[in-house]
Amino acid sequence: MADEVLSMIVSAKLIPPPEAYAARSYLSSYGEYRAKYQASIDDPAAFWDEIADELVWQQRGKTVIAGDLPDFQFFPGSYINVCENCVDRHAKDPMYRNKVALFFEGENGERKSVTYLQLQDAVSRFANALKDLGLRQGDVVCVYMQNLIETYVALLACLRIGVLYNTVFAGFSAEALRERIVRCGAKAVICANGSLRRGRVLRLKETVDRALEGVETVEHVIVYRRLADLDTPMTPGRDLDFESLVEGASRDCPPAVLEANEPSFLIFTSGTTGRPKGIVHAGGGFLLGTYAYTKYQLDLRPEDIYWNTADIGWLTSHIFVLVGGLALGTTTLLYEGALDWPKPGRLYEMIERYRVNKLFSAPTAYRMMMKHGEDVARSYDLSSLELLVSVGEPFNPEAWHWVRRVVGGDVAVINNTWGQTETGGTPLALMPGAVPIKPGSCGVPFFGHDLAVVDEQGREVPDGVPGYLVIRRPFPSLARDVYGDRSLYLNAYFSRMPGLYFTGDSAVRDADGHFWVLGRVDDVINVSGHRISTMEMESSLIQHPAVVEAAVVGEPDEVKGQVPVAFVTLERGWEPGAELEEELKARVVADIGSFARPARVYFVAAMPKTRSGKILRRMLREILQTGEVKGDVTGLEDWEVVERLLHDLRERAPGHE
Ligand code: PRX
Repeated sequence: MADEVLSMIVSAKLIPPPEAYAARSYLSSYGEYRAKYQASIDDPAAFWDEIADELVWQQRGKTVIAGDLPDFQFFPGSYINVCENCVDRHAKDPMYRNKVALFFEGENGERKSVTYLQLQDAVSRFANALKDLGLRQGDVVCVYMQNLIETYVALLACLRIGVLYNTVFAGFSAEALRERIVRCGAKAVICANGSLRRGRVLRLKETVDRALEGVETVEHVIVYRRLADLDTPMTPGRDLDFESLVEGASRDCPPAVLEANEPSFLIFTSGTTGRPKGIVHAGGGFLLGTYAYTKYQLDLRPEDIYWNTADIGWLTSHIFVLVGGLALGTTTLLYEGALDWPKPGRLYEMIERYRVNKLFSAPTAYRMMMKHGEDVARSYDLSSLELLVSVGEPFNPEAWHWVRRVVGGDVAVINNTWGQTETGGTPLALMPGAVPIKPGSCGVPFFGHDLAVVDEQGREVPDGVPGYLVIRRPFPSLARDVYGDRSLYLNAYFSRMPGLYFTGDSAVRDADGHFWVLGRVDDVINVSGHRISTMEMESSLIQHPAVVEAAVVGEPDEVKGQVPVAFVTLERGWEPGAELEEELKARVVADIGSFARPARVYFVAAMPKTRSGKILRRMLREILQTGEVKGDVTGLEDWEVVERLLHDLRERAPGHE
């Protein structure tokens, strides 16, 4: 980002939190936030101990924090069950038990809901069914489902008995699913038979069948019939019906006694090495962290009607709905499909129908609202909204202001939060009601979190100067491992700056103490909030016989934030053209999923490289964005390659096609 643009953004004026909001939030002034933050940094154990008081423990010892990064524990030797905290404690409470825990709406308009008591019943039965199938504490099951009440039942059942779940986004292809199943050695797969997306039926069970070809570890596939009329092939002896299992099982299933630092679930993310990493979170730590983030950053209360549009395949739902949301006893809306289907106002219609007062989404969805225009928004009553939350990618100030004015009626608080799959929560955000708002910033550090912006040597840089975002102390929800690969965990996050957690993001802190996350420093691009490794895409492309070399870079996109664009060089004898371009795009879709589909493929004669043979992706990015090369070219091996590249690209420019 150019220096002048950066300084203009970070010097934006602070907007005080609305008074009405401040009056009823957990924290009501900036002074209160500052004092509590300082106290939590001076004595983090005291802060987390206070949060722990609000949870139900099976056994709680005295030690709060043991060790330091990267070998740390929270509440070692203490025992806690996440499911008990999310479900049973409310199901036991006469004030909560008949309250709706989850509303569900399908893309086709189908509606359902479940109370806390009903949820406890379904979860306990399903947990017993899993036990009857022989699943034990520490086994892994893979969950391939869209947002459904049954998905929550499945995940909570795993948490109840200490079976590790691994959710895989139901938009991933059979190949990507297979890799994630094999890498975690899953013993069972739980899936829906199908899902609806933009009016189309996605045949999830068939994808699972293809993914499982040749996979030895999976003994059972449990299928929830989301679409009753969908013809669903079942393999006898392996495949089981979700609902029959629930009906046939006993509802008596005490929550397992689990140590707070034991692995609880895993979730794959794309990493710099190109191979997806199975991030492991600890049960007690994740609960402790997500409870605190959800309480203070969303100001979430039992009386809220809250809608988080994230898919269960992404960690955001686990942080802010499955664990954080339910632990706080709130009522949450789950939605299956596309937010602007079958009409642009679908999202607004649902806000109006349920009187949603807290909405959690991603910048790509907020930009989609802006694209559909003001008239669509104005034809619905959105006056219930008081908080709009965002995570996943930069929230550009233009969209921010539009959303606040049009969707938030100029009064709603917009909370742009920053977090990662690895951080298991959002270390940066506003505390709505207490912290002044800065359009587009990621807010301020959360209690007990010591964030800094540093240079290559790990030294803090002055405010206003961009650097690497790091976290200097352990916090409960930080990932504890990479499944089956401790050295990858240590290498990826703790080797670059020993003693610090390296986020892989660049950031700047402004004079008001707000942080601005600028982007990744590695080769990961962010498409509609989905983190995709460019290396994973490149390795898919080079498996095509035509391709010799491939480089993928992100290009800015108005709605999606970034889209992938591929550059390839071809084997002799292959002809560049539209047909081959389609084939290569289809290859990436088949290997990863349709969300990773390259927007364009450029066939180029050669790649710009360093003298040591590394492809200069930075230069490709610059050429793509500006049509020229002005940046540092000292590392370039052969200038002629760039000239040829610029020529090739001009040939492809609009008007030449
Ligand atoms: O680069 C940052 C970007 O998204 C990355 C994390 O992606 P993921 O693990 O998929 O997110 C899970 C969210 C719980 C970060 O490393 N990112 C996230 N939030 C923001 C952001 N970039 C800019 N602004 C944000 N608010």
